[in-house]
Amino acid sequence: MNPEDIYAILGDDFKAVKDLIHNRLSSQVALLDSVNEGLLANSGKMARPALCLLMARACGGCTADTRLFAASVEMLHNSTLLHDDVADQSDTRRGAPTVMSLYGPVPAVLVGDFWLSRAVDLVLDSAYSTWAIRAYAKVLTDLSEGEMLQLERSFKCDTTEEDYLRIIYCKTASLFELSCTSAAKSAEASPEFFSAAARYGKALGLAFQIRDDILDFTGSNLGKPVGLDLRERKITLPLLGALKCCSDPAAVRRKVKEIPEHPEYQAEVADFVRSEGGIEYAQGVLHDYISTAIGALSALPPSREKEYLKQFALMNELRTK
Ligand code: IPE
Ligand code: IPE
Ligand code: MG
Ligand code: MG
Repeated sequence: MNPEDIYAILGDDFKAVKDLIHNRLSSQVALLDSVNEGLLANSGKMARPALCLLMARACGGCTADTRLFAASVEMLHNSTLLHDDVADQSDTRRGAPTVMSLYGPVPAVLVGDFWLSRAVDLVLDSAYSTWAIRAYAKVLTDLSEGEMLQLERSFKCDTTEEDYLRIIYCKTASLFELSCTSAAKSAEASPEFFSAAARYGKALGLAFQIRDDILDFTGSNLGKPVGLDLRERKITLPLLGALKCCSDPAAVRRKVKEIPEHPEYQAEVADFVRSEGGIEYAQGVLHDYISTAIGALSALPPSREKEYLKQFALMNELRTK
């Protein structure tokens, strides 16, 4: 299975979500409209709305509220990418120059704010707006705390595996969880299905970010720079895995800390990660989260969409884009 198969079974629901995103982003400000046009012409994988629609169907049925939530989580995701590329000083995303590199950090932050505010506006139209606003506030709190914790740990290069898991839950898995819980909510799912959706979304989100962090060492077709994490002194799971069997982990951490003054250390540490089993270690943890995600689906009744959710999780184990 590939992502196209998933978009195909989502059919008109997927198209409706894309239309909602387009329509809700229109603005009277020409500059904003033209930046948005560029962003919309090169949308990413649309993983979160696809998950939202699949999960709602697997929980009983996709509704108008599901489509609102699916569009909204994708808009929220894009707003975080716009801000993230400023924070990470990243020039490329989805194989194209970032808004930050084309227009500068100020427009990138402002366009990100616009996408965020339009995302929130969208869920106000749902029957579950009070629930949704609270859930969105939680995700946004997680995102900012996760990014701040990541920054704090990067100063001392003392990230532990526990810190790492907290960071990736906050910056990535929390939004995956929301994509799935908002789907369950919109489908009026039972508490049992709702909790299964939450467990699936969380485990899949953790797996998704671990795969992203592996690809930052191994190279990918993601259309974004490789090696950025070490350059920013972010200690991710492949490095934590390699440090486990190392006789002098403090010396490696010191090297990471000194990357800004000694850029040549970046390649040295990356080689260390690759030669000391760091990739395999991270891949093992990723595999366990994928199993957890698939295990959570057992609470849901049999359906074609449940099978697609399982395939979606499995695809993540080896995805390169
Ligand atoms: C990128 O997410 C940010 C991470 C959580 C790793 P995606 O890989 O889903 O980005 P797009 O939307 O497909 O470009
Ligand atoms: C991913 O952050 C989560 C966000 C808050 C966007 P990263 O910095 O790890 O994501 P990429 O690798 O730039 O997509
Ligand atoms: Mg980042
Ligand atoms: Mg980044």
